[in-house]
Amino acid sequence: MSRVIVQRSFGSPSVLEVAEVAVPPSDELAPGEVLIRVAYAGVNPVDIKTRKGGAVAGLFDGFPVTVGWDLAGTVNAVGSEVTDFAIGDRAFGMSRFPQPGRAYAEHVVADATDLVHTPDAVSDEQAAALPLAGLTVWENLVDLAELQATQRIAIMGAGGGTGHLAVQIAHHLGATVTAVASAGKLDWLRSLGADVTVDYRSDDLVTLFADRPFDVVFNASDTTAGTGIAVTRPGGVVIDISETVTDDDRALAARTGVRVEVPSVTRNRVALQTLADLAARGSLVSHISSTFPLADAAAAHAEIEAGHARGKILLQP
Ligand SMILES: NC(=O)c1ccc[n+]([C@@H]2O[C@H](COP(=O)([O-])OP(=O)(O)OC[C@H]3O[C@@H](n4cnc5c(N)ncnc54)[C@H](OP(=O)(O)O)[C@@H]3O)[C@@H](O)[C@H]2O)c1
Repeated sequence: MSRVIVQRSFGSPSVLEVAEVAVPPSDELAPGEVLIRVAYAGVNPVDIKTRKGGAVAGLFDGFPVTVGWDLAGTVNAVGSEVTDFAIGDRAFGMSRFPQPGRAYAEHVVADATDLVHTPDAVSDEQAAALPLAGLTVWENLVDLAELQATQRIAIMGAGGGTGHLAVQIAHHLGATVTAVASAGKLDWLRSLGADVTVDYRSDDLVTLFADRPFDVVFNASDTTAGTGIAVTRPGGVVIDISETVTDDDRALAARTGVRVEVPSVTRNRVALQTLADLAARGSLVSHISSTFPLADAAAAHAEIEAGHARGKILLQP
């Protein structure tokens, strides 16, 4: 048998419960699928929004449902047409997003094309913390904003699961990084590559940067994107991953010549491999603040919902 977190209704963390199901039989894998024995599943805010009935909940096909997309583990079985994984290989990725990935489980059937090999130098914990947050950063800073070494970026929500990877990747690209977070995270963010840090509780970003110096603002905090727009130069871009942009914000952006993007992460194996390579070289390190047993998924959700996560939170089946 295999344990999995299920919910039979949308709602508070208490809807998450443990169920036992049969291990998916290897002879029932579709072409291109692999069976993963999950070592760690990563927890992301989209899991929480979906648990409540928002985000991608509409893509589930009736209850019970299992949330979770990030996973790292070991290949237990391979379907036909899988040429790049063998039984025993370590693998990680973001499974099937935005379709149900069902990663909060001991065993997960995944598409091999959503996974890459976990490098020897990277632990399963590190790997499970990377996919959704890391892909979000890579797709937006590199592919969308084309962040250059000569440019200045502000990262709001810099101490969270996505933000702390954004600080490292922007630093890796050579950009000048301003990290916006609560006071207790600022020394840590400087150690990750932030050139300038701002405590959003004691300093006002718009007053500090009235000259609008930023080429790119990456907003990973659930506060208004308007602040980011007000400090971005004409022709610059605000990437609002937390989707807080209002009509007033858009009007401000139009008046001041700032582009606003509200993107959604996609499965992207090329970018995932780049993240794996960066992690293998030590250029990208996930900070894991807590690891909960699978059965304590509700506590993991509550910790993120409190709104001040430091780095990533994992589940261990
Ligand atoms: N569109 C997409 O594809 C996509 C992908 C990934 C994530 N997201 C969304 O992006 C958001 C962030 O995700 P995440 O995984 O990074 O969340 P997270 O791990 O919960 O981090 C959020 C961070 O924001 C900080 N914060 C709270 N208020 C702030 C403020 N006023 N100014 C600056 N920082 C503040 C929090 O800590 P402190 O207050 O202690 O600094 C926390 O570290 C979520 O809404 C998530 O759903 C969207």
